[in-house]
Amino acid sequence: METNDGVPAAAGAGPDSPASDSPAQNNTPPVSAAQDNTAQDNPAPATPEVPEFAEVPEEVHGPLPVAELHLHIEGTLEPELIFALAERNGIQLPYADLDELRSRYEFTDLQSFLDLYYANMAVLQTEQDFADMTRAYLSRAALAGVRHAEIMLDPQAHVSRGVALETCVNGVASVLAVSEQEFGISTLLIAAFLRDLSEDSALEVLEQLLALNAPIAGIGLDSAEVGNPSAKFQRLFARAKDAGLHRIAHAGEEGPPSYIIDALDLLDVERIDHGIRCMEDPELVERLVHELMPLTVCPLSNVRLRAVDTLKEHPLPAMLAAGLNVSVNSDDPAYFGGYVDDNFAQLKSVIGLSEFDCVRMAANSIRSSFASEERKTELLAELAASGR
Ligand code: HPA
Ligand code: ZN
Repeated sequence: METNDGVPAAAGAGPDSPASDSPAQNNTPPVSAAQDNTAQDNPAPATPEVPEFAEVPEEVHGPLPVAELHLHIEGTLEPELIFALAERNGIQLPYADLDELRSRYEFTDLQSFLDLYYANMAVLQTEQDFADMTRAYLSRAALAGVRHAEIMLDPQAHVSRGVALETCVNGVASVLAVSEQEFGISTLLIAAFLRDLSEDSALEVLEQLLALNAPIAGIGLDSAEVGNPSAKFQRLFARAKDAGLHRIAHAGEEGPPSYIIDALDLLDVERIDHGIRCMEDPELVERLVHELMPLTVCPLSNVRLRAVDTLKEHPLPAMLAAGLNVSVNSDDPAYFGGYVDDNFAQLKSVIGLSEFDCVRMAANSIRSSFASEERKTELLAELAASGR
């Protein structure tokens, strides 16, 4: 199933779907004349042989051009930057050194991660701190092949510890404003609201963002899921829709399929972040396929937060086979062992995901973004020209 731009179509795996039966790409580098021990007897031909398409090694192609749709900017704070910002701001960290901090990155569930994630935000004090964090993410993401990023910021996590809303928003937004020129990455900012806080708190911050004319393209819903169902935030999402904002929500990461259904029915979301637990409800899967609903899956995150036991047991291959519109994202890359390229690399090496499926998910990510139609066309053309 291909579109006329040469890029596999999103989702919709019909009977002819190559989701599970496409041949894995052979990444074995071609044997060069110098390595070939028959070369002395048979001198290399004058014109070097052009390797078969399937034999071109990964390094020749570079990373797949993708859109990263599920990324918490605070989750990109690498340990080194945490220490550097702490020093700059005169903050005493509760860890003696980098190794001690890294030793805390063993999570048992979402909450055990959130505790560390929120604690480490203490080092973010000034606009410059938020700008430095954003710049660090974009420079690493560019190497990972990210060409468009929709970046979540948790404003309540900063306001609640005395950092002004303008400080966090302006710090991140000042860098996003130049991201395309400086990093070749078009970007949008999404204000994510903490579902373990009240809806009134979220509404208050949303009104402040609107009053400030903050450059946000949409709202999201994150933090502790279980016990804080989507249904709790209906007024927030109605207000966002009224203000012309895009709407996304985490659902079905740790929470049951009903949280996904409520996000669709009660919050009118345009994408579901994670959504992996939809696989427990065949009727819901059918609906998500039918609606081409994007699910921003984060495989390494799911393993680190024990939503799945191992990458081998991740439902992503089954989700692809079901025809779901899935993309691959890094979530909180500094905490979960890798950026989007690392997620793709491990999916290939551990699960044996085919290059075709990776390209298909890259196309899904671009099509499921809130980028302009012009930008989507440009990126799909780039993907089609990437030689895969
Ligand atoms: N899930 C929920 N909330 C979050 C996450 C996540 O993976 N990362 C940052 N906030
Ligand atoms: Zn997330």
